[in-house]
Amino acid sequence: MIILGIESSCDETAAAVVVDGTTILSSVVSSQIAIHNPYGGIVPELASRKHIESIVPVVNEAIKTADIKLNQLDGIAVTQGPGLIGSLLVGFSFTKAYAFALDIPWTGVDHLEGHISSVFLESDPPPFPFVTLLASGGHTSIYYVKSHTDFELMGQTRDDAAGEAFDKVAKMLGLGYPGGGIIDKLAHEGDPKKINFPRAYIDKSAFDFSFSGIKTAVNRYIQNHKDGYKKQLSDIAASFQEAVVDVLSYKIINAAKKKDCKHIAIVGGVAANNRLRERIKKETANHNLVAHIPSLNLCGDNAAMIGAIGYHYLSKGTSSNMNDDVYSRIKPLS
Ligand code: KG4
Ligand code: ZN
Repeated sequence: MIILGIESSCDETAAAVVVDGTTILSSVVSSQIAIHNPYGGIVPELASRKHIESIVPVVNEAIKTADIKLNQLDGIAVTQGPGLIGSLLVGFSFTKAYAFALDIPWTGVDHLEGHISSVFLESDPPPFPFVTLLASGGHTSIYYVKSHTDFELMGQTRDDAAGEAFDKVAKMLGLGYPGGGIIDKLAHEGDPKKINFPRAYIDKSAFDFSFSGIKTAVNRYIQNHKDGYKKQLSDIAASFQEAVVDVLSYKIINAAKKKDCKHIAIVGGVAANNRLRERIKKETANHNLVAHIPSLNLCGDNAAMIGAIGYHYLSKGTSSNMNDDVYSRIKPLS
């Protein structure tokens, strides 16, 4: 089945053509970072307007690069939620009209299920069941994945998401938006042991997260070192990153042990973090586990992952209809 995937939940307009949920024929991502950067975060109204401008050229580019004719498409998958309502509505309404015009089935899919499915676009997908850490700008959770469409939530953040903590700390340090990539780069030159920021394990045997405490600790450090903190940016970045990575790695390795899974996956924007990737590879090797981490272009928001999960619904005959609507908040996965 050839599926067109469409993603517009946040600050990327993306379209991709994917075959059978595994093979990417094209994946186009138009980022809005330059538009939101001056504000230090996403401005929802600007995001929706930019999606409206970008959606048609991005879809056309995806079809052209895939080198297919429109009548070869078997269906369309689009992000239905969670995300910014105005942004989601652009992709969702576009899909309704496009699928109607092409007379093909379409389905709304959950963005988080999309992120989890990104590992199936790689050459070494994990066998079921496996555990996955999903860490992005809006979400941080651990799932026990039983099939392509069956996910058991083991734990999630009680406050900020991991990516959100990276973004907020970067903003406090005056480094720009989005903060994850900037801190990752800066941390290379810093000493991760220099400052002992708190690790919030909450309950060491459970899988919930909390990142608001570390954000406050970094803020306090800045307030207490008003004159000197600017000379210590790389040490602060490295020490903060190390604290977050310690908690994420500990919890996902423990989740694998609890469920007796040999395979673990790390997905979402934060999975692009170099230190996290390095630590997960090392710790899985130490514990005789196998790590599956998507390539960088599949960690951040993209439409290939949406086409991948959409395939598993459309191929079973599950589709959406014109009365369906988008949703903003996280809902329990199927
Ligand atoms: O998955 P994603 O593109 O969008 C959401 O669904 O939220 O994730 C974006 C998040 C941002 O918070 C960004 O700062 C973070 O992923 N991120 C990173 C890195 N690259 C992106 N965090 C840590 N290290 C990185 N290299
Ligand atoms: Zn995402």
